[in-house]
Amino acid sequence: MTFQNTREFARELDSKDALNHYQDQFIFPKVNDKRVIYFTGNSLGLQPKRTKAYIDEVMNDWAELAVEGHFYAEKPWWDYQERFAEPLSKIVGALPSEVTVMNTLTVNLHLLMVSFYQPKGKRYKIICEEKAFPSDQYMFQSQVNFHGYKPEDAIVEIKRRDGEHNIRLEDVLAKIEEVGDELALVLIGGVNYYTGQVFDIKTITAAGQKVGAKVGWDLAHAAGNIKLELHDWNVDFAAWCSYKYMNSGPGNASGCFVHEKHHHSDLPRFAGWWGHNKERRFKMEPNFDPVQGAGGWQISNLPVLSLAPYLASVEMFAEVGMDALIKKRDHITSYLEFILHEIDKEVESTFEIITPNNPEERASQLSVFLHGQGRSLFDYLMKNGVITDWREPNVIRLAPVPLYSSYEDMYDFGQILKKGILGK
Ligand SMILES: Cc1ncc(COP(=O)(O)O)c(C=O)c1O
Repeated sequence: MTFQNTREFARELDSKDALNHYQDQFIFPKVNDKRVIYFTGNSLGLQPKRTKAYIDEVMNDWAELAVEGHFYAEKPWWDYQERFAEPLSKIVGALPSEVTVMNTLTVNLHLLMVSFYQPKGKRYKIICEEKAFPSDQYMFQSQVNFHGYKPEDAIVEIKRRDGEHNIRLEDVLAKIEEVGDELALVLIGGVNYYTGQVFDIKTITAAGQKVGAKVGWDLAHAAGNIKLELHDWNVDFAAWCSYKYMNSGPGNASGCFVHEKHHHSDLPRFAGWWGHNKERRFKMEPNFDPVQGAGGWQISNLPVLSLAPYLASVEMFAEVGMDALIKKRDHITSYLEFILHEIDKEVESTFEIITPNNPEERASQLSVFLHGQGRSLFDYLMKNGVITDWREPNVIRLAPVPLYSSYEDMYDFGQILKKGILGK
């Protein structure tokens, strides 16, 4: 399709967009009395209008039933997490028994590393991407320290080549081959938080496992954003947060995946009563008998008030389906890319898109390196109702979200950006 940088054209795309009406299902903040153009769904998704009813339901059950709500609430609390199994497994391409929801993301990655990072003899190294999300870096450092290794020896980062913004698949595969029988674990962000680069999860997983390592994924920027087939790709484990593309609210619960092949294994794990055999959980038995599935990694009784908004979101995703989301995602991201290039031509090149331009290697996000203006331009955008985020040294990240971004938003953004750069 040939795009045009006009309001009429953007409106025409909106009128043909099968997901357009979902915008009305979200609450947008306002700036200058106008609904904002929201580009930070990769950081914190907007609040769906339906979410409050899910929370109110739990609050009402608590008021009316108190402790009895565990078993007699409309959605009983004691196995509330099971309501996620079907819809969430479709979002990440898993069997229902392979997913669960619990805790928060870094906590879950730590817990999964307890099981899947088992350094022994010469096999103790972890491969991750250069400039992984800081929480992951601290996690790797503390995990290898905990096992008595030195981070500078045990953590192997895959570097970007000089002058390149993204990591090449061939370099990931070569590093895995090179570390070989010293490699215990590969753990990479499925979508890089900074550049928006999407990694080839299937190929990297197979390569890591071929040299005898376990392979896990931090899917913070991937869940609800990209097509995942975690079961078929034979991923060992994964975890993600729910507050970005999945719109479940600030700091909210995390989802986990543990491949079926590990459900009956004797992998070590940190246990708690919510991972214990469901039928016998309240018999208060002394010995742990794990649920056969990702639920066997549960520890504490569930934070139902925070799972309620996540359930609202997961049900919305089930309604829409990942295929429809991805179709719009690719189209609207390409339209945003087009608008950026058009504006760049008009203002004589002041910025550079560092996200891969190959649609296979990117999803909702375009990261834009601002040459020159930087922070002042970001501030201008924010004051004029364009919510983006700023990452040092000079990058703004723009994530059009298929559920609530419109093509007209992309057009309007371009006009505001142009004014900001030209100072008019
Ligand atoms: C890629 C990635 N990993 C980990 C985290 C940390 O998540 P949490 O604070 O929920 O543990 C984030 C948070 O934004 C992230 O983007």
